[in-house]
Formats: sequence, structure tokens, C-alpha cells
Amino acid sequence: MAQLAGLIVSEDDGFKKHVGRMLRTGPIPLSVLDERLARDGAAPDVIVVDARGDASSAMSTIERMRATAAGAGIFAVALAADPDLILQSMRAGANEFFTWPPPEETFHNAIRRLAGRRETAIGSKPPATTLVFFGAKGGAGTTTVAVNCGVELARLSKRSTVIVDLKAGLGEVSLFLGVRPRYTLIDAIDNLHRLDREFLRELVVKHKSGLEILAGADHFDRPGAGDAGALEELFRLLGRQYDYILIDAGSQINSCTVAALYTADQMFLIGNPDVPSVRNAQRLLDRVRQLGACGERVRIVMNRAAEPFPIPPKQIESALGHPIHHMFPSDYKTVSAALNSGVPLALTGNSDIASQFDRFTRLILDPNAQIAPVAAGKKNALGIERLASLW
Ligand SMILES: Nc1ncnc2c1ncn2[C@@H]1O[C@H](COP(=O)(O)OP(=O)(O)O)[C@@H](O)[C@H]1O
Ligand SMILES: [Mg+2]
Repeated sequence: MAQLAGLIVSEDDGFKKHVGRMLRTGPIPLSVLDERLARDGAAPDVIVVDARGDASSAMSTIERMRATAAGAGIFAVALAADPDLILQSMRAGANEFFTWPPPEETFHNAIRRLAGRRETAIGSKPPATTLVFFGAKGGAGTTTVAVNCGVELARLSKRSTVIVDLKAGLGEVSLFLGVRPRYTLIDAIDNLHRLDREFLRELVVKHKSGLEILAGADHFDRPGAGDAGALEELFRLLGRQYDYILIDAGSQINSCTVAALYTADQMFLIGNPDVPSVRNAQRLLDRVRQLGACGERVRIVMNRAAEPFPIPPKQIESALGHPIHHMFPSDYKTVSAALNSGVPLALTGNSDIASQFDRFTRLILDPNAQIAPVAAGKKNALGIERLASLW
């Protein structure tokens, strides 16, 4: 999907929060730039200017924005649709005018029009697909699924594919793939202003499958809360260079993983068919809905799913209000042999779990073959009651 960058110019935190949410929850994945980063040269595609206060200072802001970001769409938001003010805003360089609070549908339509114009201007590169892997609990197999899917995607699609390890403190993606990174995600977010193709090539390690790896940090406190804005911008920049972006987001919801969720075309929620996974998955799904990060993009994946299931799959689906998108069998021997040798399953020959990764990845490559998700909220009360009695 097209990745746009938005900038909000306002002194009012309430305005920033409201407009930020509208930008992020629209039909087009869009990252909201930190004003600091924007000053460092990241070019916004859409700029929303708070014009509810002093009109002349709002007009000079619009003029300044127009001068620094010639190609951006500038949206002015004022308290009333005063014809004089509309005219002045347009003369200063605004493309759209809204009254506060902007009606969601009109606002999103304006973004859609802007994205359409952008795509024609950018030309031939098809938009990147971002896949985020999120664990319902630690140890559920998030890294295993993300890494093996990344290898299969690079191998089957022959398109440029990168996996980003978001975990603070010794991420495991490079370990699983048996590669030694020289640089990490932190080098990327600390050097966003010069993150072009050449520089990226220095930062990533290439696996023999073709998959490129932006390794996890060796800091225990980074990426942290202060890095969320830079991460959003990083994902957008990666979207310009790669066809597929996979993000191993670990199992903690924090501002960095939320940045990843906003950018996701598909979010894979990885759990095991057990009580902690299902309970946490319910909470995570609620949180995703609260964030407005489009619950329809969520795919439930059950890993280490072997009979007898501690909780039957139908009951898990009822409790979560989502179908199970894929189940991977439990095969500790094969998975741990692959892990210890640093050779991913897809490259180790025939096993049921390797062919499952092949199927899983082909479904990503051919979205038409995807199983339609159950509408959010369609929960089976009986299933939930049965599950509730389990904890
Ligand atoms: N399908 C599976 N069958 C058996 N063991 C698995 C499977 N998937 C993962 N594992 C094992 O579970 C452990 C945790 O996996 P990992 O991918 O690191 O989880 P997470 O990233 O969610 O913490 C590892 O030892 C891994 O080898
Ligand atoms: Mg992990």
C-alpha cells in the first residue's frame, strides 16, 4: 500500500491527537512525522495546519509550509467555513479546507485523492506490503514464524524483502538466520536523514535466500518510547526501497509496536492453542480496535498446534471473533535443529512444518486465496463462557 507521511502543525495537543488518529486510521497507511524529524528533511505528503486561532498567523504558517514542501497536500482546519478565510487559505497555498472537527469521510476522501495523485507522480514501483508479526505471549513462536515466512517470501517472490527486528535488547532474528550483523535498527533510526538505498545496503545483512535483515538492537532500552516517531518514518522509507517488509514486533504493546501496527497491511497475531495465548490475544485485539488500527487486517496464527489441543480451534475462533488463519504443527526437533544451525526451515528439506510455511507464504503472495475474516464483534457467547470458565 502507498505509504504517506503526515505532519500536523498545531500548538494544541488535543488537535494533534485527534488529527493524528484520523490520519493513521484512514484507508491509506500513513505515518505521522515528528515535527523535529520534518525539520531534519523528511518530506511530508500531507500537512494539516491548525487554523482555528489567529487567522494571520495561520496564513503565514500555510505560506511557510507551501514554500518548504512544494508537493505536499496542505489541509487547513478552521472553526467556521468563513468564505474570506477559505479564500485566504487557498491563496496562501492550502489545497483543502475543513471545519473543526473535520468530518471523517470527507477528510479520508481528501487523503485518498492525495494518495492517488502521489502514486501517479511516483511512477512504477508497486506499493510495499508490510507484514507485522506480534506474539500473544513470549515464546509463542513469533520470531520463528516471522523469520521462516521472510525466507519463503524472498525465495518464492524473488522480490526485495527485508525483515526488521523490533525487539529491544538482543533481538533474535539474525541469530535464527545464522548471520552476524554489523549494524542494527538503531543505526537506521539515528541516521534517517541519510537513509537512501546505498546507506541501507550498508546497514542490512543479506541471507542466502535473498532476505535482507535489519537486525535488532543490542541496547536494552532502545528502541524505546522516544523512538516511535523515528520508527514510523523508517517503515515509510523502507516502503520506498522494498517490496515486502516483515516486522518481528515481539509480544509487548508499546509505542514502538503501535508504530508498527499502524503501518501494517496485515498483522499476524501468533499464539499457541492454550489459555494464556487466547486470553492475551483477546486483550490485544481489543487494544488494536481501540487504537483504530483496523482490526480487519488481523490474521490469527496458531503455532505448536497439535492434537489433543488444550483448547479446540473452534472455541478459540469463537472467543476471538476471528477465524484462525493458519495453524503450524508442533515439531520441536525440526524447529530447534533449524534454529541451532541458523538455517531456516524452508531451506532444510521436507518436513510438514516446512511445507506449512510454503502454504502460509503462498497465501500472502496471492491475497485472493485468503480466507475472509469474520466481522469483528461476532463472538459466540457460548465459546466465550466456556473459555472464561478455564481461567
Ligand atoms: N512449531 C513449533 N514447534 C515446536 N517448537 C517451536 C515451534 N515454533 C517455535 N518453537 C520453539 O519455541 C521457542 C520459542 O520460539 P520463538 O520463535 O523464539 O518465540 P517468540 O519469538 O514468540 O518468543 C523456540 O525454542 C522455538 O524453537
Ligand atoms: Mg522472538
